[in-house]
Amino acid sequence: NEKKLQDLTALCKNRGFIFPSSEIYGGLRSAYDYGPLGVELKRNIMNEWWNEMVYMREDVVGLDASIIMHPQVWKSSGHLAGFSDPLVDCKICKERFRADKAPTAEEGEDIVISFPDKGKAKAALEYIKNTFDIELERKGKSLHGAKADHRGYKCPCCGASGQFLSEERQFNLMFRSFLGPVDPMEEIAQKIEQGKLQDLSGRELREEIQKSVDPSTVYLRPETAQAMFVQFQNIQRTMSMKVPFGIAQIGKSFRNEITTRYFIFRSCEFEQMEMEFFCKPDTAKEWLDYWKDKRLGWWQKYANTPENFKLRQHEESELAHYADNCYDIEYNFPWGWDELEGVASRTDYDLKKHESGSGKKLQYRDPETNEAYHPYVIEPAAGATRGVLAFLNDALCVDEIPDSKGVPQKRTVLRLHPRLAPYKVAILPLLRKEGMPEKAREVAKMFFESGINARYDEVNAIGKRYRRHDEIGTPYCLTIDGETLENNTVTIRDRDTTKQERISIEEAVQIVRDKLK
Ligand code: GAP
Repeated sequence: NEKKLQDLTALCKNRGFIFPSSEIYGGLRSAYDYGPLGVELKRNIMNEWWNEMVYMREDVVGLDASIIMHPQVWKSSGHLAGFSDPLVDCKICKERFRADKAPTAEEGEDIVISFPDKGKAKAALEYIKNTFDIELERKGKSLHGAKADHRGYKCPCCGASGQFLSEERQFNLMFRSFLGPVDPMEEIAQKIEQGKLQDLSGRELREEIQKSVDPSTVYLRPETAQAMFVQFQNIQRTMSMKVPFGIAQIGKSFRNEITTRYFIFRSCEFEQMEMEFFCKPDTAKEWLDYWKDKRLGWWQKYANTPENFKLRQHEESELAHYADNCYDIEYNFPWGWDELEGVASRTDYDLKKHESGSGKKLQYRDPETNEAYHPYVIEPAAGATRGVLAFLNDALCVDEIPDSKGVPQKRTVLRLHPRLAPYKVAILPLLRKEGMPEKAREVAKMFFESGINARYDEVNAIGKRYRRHDEIGTPYCLTIDGETLENNTVTIRDRDTTKQERISIEEAVQIVRDKLK
């Protein structure tokens, strides 16, 4: 299954879906660029989400808020104090890992420390002797003979535990920056140069630095959600929304993630599709049930294997600081079930926190009963970039189709839902002569002007072009051949069945449009 992820990553790069960011400079850890096909797939996913969550409903409206918000937002929301991962450093292999995801070791447990090669094992043996005054025994690439001196975590990289690991410390996931023309770091550097800080104690120095940094500190948002709470009143009033109603937003979020395995699954910069649904407190349970099923159905609608999407209710201990109940929508990724979307019951936590943080009332007054209250919130929060990975994995398969002599041949095909596919249709002249390219360009123009994303493609033999479009998920190929020039018809080939039909050029756009409904 790891192989499937490798195949997918290779296909994404080779076919123009996803490239490593800044690749000519060696790339940046877990940052990716969406190429000509990836940008289409990602946008199509987002458009389908917006269609279902906003356009097809009268009770949800949209928002596109700033990524950088007032720093007080993150104080009130609890992110500044609580949005952190517990981190531990391994003193042996220097791995930094998340404690809550690491295996644990008991006090007195035998420690086996393993390395990728003997040279590293030898160096570590020496280091442990000098630093910890412990003599270990080396067997090939691993070290034996130590016991954990207290209960704790085990380094997921080399297996060290106990005395070989640092204390656990909290690491805030928000990216920090500074707003305005003054660089606080420069200010501190100047004070040091001028000798103004040299007599301060450690604590005083820390306070001095904090004083310079705090006034201009801002954060990149770690979720799009907070803007929906902060703008609750503006939106409710200007749009005369009546509870229950929702505010939807798609946009970038940023988290300084430490563990970034599995391609685009977890990255520091990613895109979210979130909706905050404000309802009466005593209806929150009903709406949570409604949204969890509705959202699961949305993912499954576009899938070849709907059983690979499922709901999982959070254990009490897993719940985020703002939630009293939550369901994850999980997908069966190549490494196993993992989170794609969270559907959380956030109660009135956020509105109340922002009300006390800002001093502005964030209540809703029921026009019928005249009662004022803080609505409860149900939040379906999905990852758009994670969705790209799930749908690509769902679509990628290798099957067999007969070649021109009827002999079965293996082919790679991306069975993307036609509405998600980057190109809906490929326009292919059979030959690069006898007027076929000219006629094909005429057909392509009809599609370009219709708003259906089409690709004109005349490079390589026709069989190879079909294979190429199978591999990038183009659901339909229109071929312009000798007969086209006689009777104004083309063949339309279906990616999944490979069956071809002859249709008239006049009807081609409408036929494809109908298939995309
Ligand atoms: N407002 C609630 C919230 O942000 P979350 O479960 O932390 O909840 C929602 O995030 C979704 O955003 C996740 O289910 C996931 O799909 C996506 N997501 C979160 N962190 C991500 C990351 N580092 N990289 C890619 N997607 C991420």
